[in-house]
Amino acid sequence: MLETLYRPNLREIPPYFKESVVLLRNLVRDRMIATWAPTTPWGARYVASKIPKPSFLGVEYGPGTGAVTRPLLDAMGSNGTLIALETNPNFVEHLKTIDDDRLHIHQASAEESEGILDGKKANFIVSGIPFSRGFLSPDTVDRIWRATMHTLDEHGVFIAYQVRNAVRRPLHRLFGNVQEELYWWNMFPPLYIYRAQGKKPITESLAA
Ligand SMILES: C[S@@+](CC[C@H](N)C(=O)[O-])C[C@H]1O[C@@H](n2cnc3c(N)ncnc32)[C@H](O)[C@@H]1O
Repeated sequence: MLETLYRPNLREIPPYFKESVVLLRNLVRDRMIATWAPTTPWGARYVASKIPKPSFLGVEYGPGTGAVTRPLLDAMGSNGTLIALETNPNFVEHLKTIDDDRLHIHQASAEESEGILDGKKANFIVSGIPFSRGFLSPDTVDRIWRATMHTLDEHGVFIAYQVRNAVRRPLHRLFGNVQEELYWWNMFPPLYIYRAQGKKPITESLAA
């Protein structure tokens, strides 16, 4: 049984609905958002609980309205840095309301992570972007995986949460140790959560 911290909390529902309105308003114009509601606060805490400890440098792909960003900052140490890469300009503005010096927000795609980190290596990458077919092009997916593998530290951990299992195959090609679970407490539908580590060399196209 999961800890109470990772299960629905009624008091968190009103602010969660407010954030959902921000997301829904943008979804009309940007299909890459790929969801009708942010990750729930309890689901986001569960995702954040998967980061390695201690973590000094983390990267978040697709923070959206910041649902997972806040718990990630809570889970990191006071001297940690979190680099958030978000393509939607309205979400970038919304994220700037998070008052935390440890958070560095870039309006950028996940595939730019290597350039943005400029040689530094991340202890973890947490991804909420839509890898599923019909959203990112195969070339973009390939570039994101390559940048991810170059950005992660040798012992770094890649964490993905998605409503589909599209990252399962590439993760098994790229990492020696892949854990998968279905988190049922998120609003419908449940979330697939992946935690992968033990980088392998990239030998083929990673688009599929
Ligand atoms: C499913 S939403 C997740 C939002 C938020 N992390 C959450 O859990 O509620 C996907 C987010 O990824 C962003 N996104 C899509 N493609 C991206 C890319 N290539 N690089 C960075 N962000 C991307 C979208 O704008 C959107 O904010």
